[in-house]
Amino acid sequence: MIDVRRCHPIAPADVAAVHALADTAEAADGHPSLGDAVWRDLGTPSERTTLFLATADEQPVGALHTTADGNGRVTAGVVVLPDHREAGVASALLDAALGAATDHHARRVLLWAFGADDRADAFATSRGFQVERELREMRVPLPIVEEPRWPPGITTRPFVIGQDEAAWVTVNNRAFVHDPDQGGWTEDDLRVRETEPWFDPAGFLLAIDDRGIAGFCWTKVHAPNLPIEPDSLGEIYVIGVDPDRQRSGLGRALVVGGLVSLHERGTPVGMLFVDAGNEPAVALYEALGFTTTRADRAYALDIA
Ligand SMILES: CC(C)(COP(=O)(O)OP(=O)(O)OC[C@H]1O[C@@H](n2cnc3c(N)ncnc32)[C@H](O)[C@@H]1OP(=O)(O)O)[C@@H](O)C(=O)NCCC(=O)NCCS
Repeated sequence: MIDVRRCHPIAPADVAAVHALADTAEAADGHPSLGDAVWRDLGTPSERTTLFLATADEQPVGALHTTADGNGRVTAGVVVLPDHREAGVASALLDAALGAATDHHARRVLLWAFGADDRADAFATSRGFQVERELREMRVPLPIVEEPRWPPGITTRPFVIGQDEAAWVTVNNRAFVHDPDQGGWTEDDLRVRETEPWFDPAGFLLAIDDRGIAGFCWTKVHAPNLPIEPDSLGEIYVIGVDPDRQRSGLGRALVVGGLVSLHERGTPVGMLFVDAGNEPAVALYEALGFTTTRADRAYALDIA
């Protein structure tokens, strides 16, 4: 018998229960079920956050987190213990979450599945969801043979905290104008990242020309995560080239520069996430030897 409870308010013990579920699932799956954005939101939950815990015999077996954007869109992430899958846990959580989504006047629910496979597709489509986005995790062994070849007029330097925020946000939002998640950043969004333990300005490379920031490659080193990831992973966290400076070879030089810097900091593998529909970026990464290692899918459901 599965019981679903809405955590309201969300207590530290509830968040600890989700962490325990996520750790167990990740150890079995080899990849996380919930993303950084979920943990950031659960760290400081707001009235737009909901959390549901599913229990069987009073033991937590699954959790579903949602966050509403205030414009009718709710984003959901779910984790179910491996031993309790195919037993209706995700369905029960989703039923509860869809009920709460109408409280937030949601018109569209986006459900993320990391490491999406046929089972995830079948579950989502059986509930009326359709694939809206696919994010690919791509990896490349380091070092790569190429050195960065900077276009004429470009110099490079690390990001400077307290100085580069406004100019960086402008270029980032111009580069990602078509990306709903990355294209609407504020300086506050950037400052939140600056306070995170992994943030390292030395790994946040800016390419400068006579008009200012032309592009950037922001990297993030993930410590080993035993036993799943025995080596540290070097992520290209965000990379962008200002639209006026694209197709001059700058993007390729920035990716290579980021990979060189990651290798110098001791990571044997380069990694990034890219929208499957982002043809320029996928072509660039494939040309540099990246291959797809995982697909994350966002399934969308329009609700009345
Ligand atoms: C992806 C991006 C960084 C590439 O930057 P860029 O400076 O234009 O890239 P380059 O000039 O170095 O081109 C390198 C390769 O990328 C690919 N590419 C770049 N633009 C492309 C386009 N419009 N269509 C197809 N392929 C393209 C090609 O393989 C190209 O190699 P080629 O010139 O030998 O054909 C840039 O398009 C960008 O900032 N996009 C918006 C932000 C973004 O999507 N970032 C990646 C998120 S994962």
